[in-house]
Amino acid sequence: MPRLVWTNERGGTTFRIGDRFLKWNPRNTGIDLDAERLRLEWAVQYHSVPRVLGAGADEEAQWLITSALRGSGAVTEAWIGRPLEAARAIGRGLRLLHDALPVAECPFQWAVQARVGHRVATEELRVPPVDKLVVCHGDPCSPNTIIADDGSPAGHVDMGSLGVADRWADLAVASMNLDYNYGAGWEDAFFDAYGIRKDEYRVGYYRFLWDNEDSIGVSSVVTRELGLLGLR
Ligand SMILES: Nc1ncnc2c1ncn2[C@@H]1O[C@H](COP(=O)(O)OP(=O)(O)OP(=O)(O)O)[C@@H](O)[C@H]1O
Ligand SMILES: [Mg+2]
Repeated sequence: MPRLVWTNERGGTTFRIGDRFLKWNPRNTGIDLDAERLRLEWAVQYHSVPRVLGAGADEEAQWLITSALRGSGAVTEAWIGRPLEAARAIGRGLRLLHDALPVAECPFQWAVQARVGHRVATEELRVPPVDKLVVCHGDPCSPNTIIADDGSPAGHVDMGSLGVADRWADLAVASMNLDYNYGAGWEDAFFDAYGIRKDEYRVGYYRFLWDNEDSIGVSSVVTRELGLLGLR
């Protein structure tokens, strides 16, 4: 029997059917499951991500069928009650992903310029100098890390935005998201497990970008906030 396991903010749903997952996404959400399919098929060569078993589309929606990773999402009941272990698994998992995926072979980009829709001149974006280019997950929110029963990271799901970018684009969002899912206080464990010291400036920049990428270059309010942050 299919079991509904997830409903996202835009009306897309995910079902579990035995050892498979079915993602179903209505056409009007602005999300393209074909983009995710292409990225999964590339990333699976190097890292633990779901194997694509099928995909399809009609006038109403697109869908994607993948194999189940063993373990449970980092924001399931089991891990919400063990936030320290969850934060460590998310940090360690992101490090494994960044170390495993080869930048030189990656056909996908997650550059700042593309994220803001090329609405702002490159020099005005004041992108911090790149610390290290890696293949980023692109949506490193806590539920997208799968954790094995022993607390080790088992892999990643939700790869529709994967692409080459500075590693801080992922680190900023993954660390920010811990507060939302587990309450405050787990950030240090996350950065320790990744093996890095928090870079306040890059974290500030990429969190701001994450929260505002759809409106940067469109709204004067956002332009003012960029100024306040000293990012323009
Ligand atoms: N192949 C898989 N193996 C294990 N778990 C999976 C798999 N696919 C999806 N899941 C589970 O279903 C949840 C939803 O999947 P996914 O994150 O891909 O959907 P989404 O709608 O794009 O999410 P979001 O709300 O982050 O946009 C995941 O957090 C994960 O717990
Ligand atoms: Mg997700």
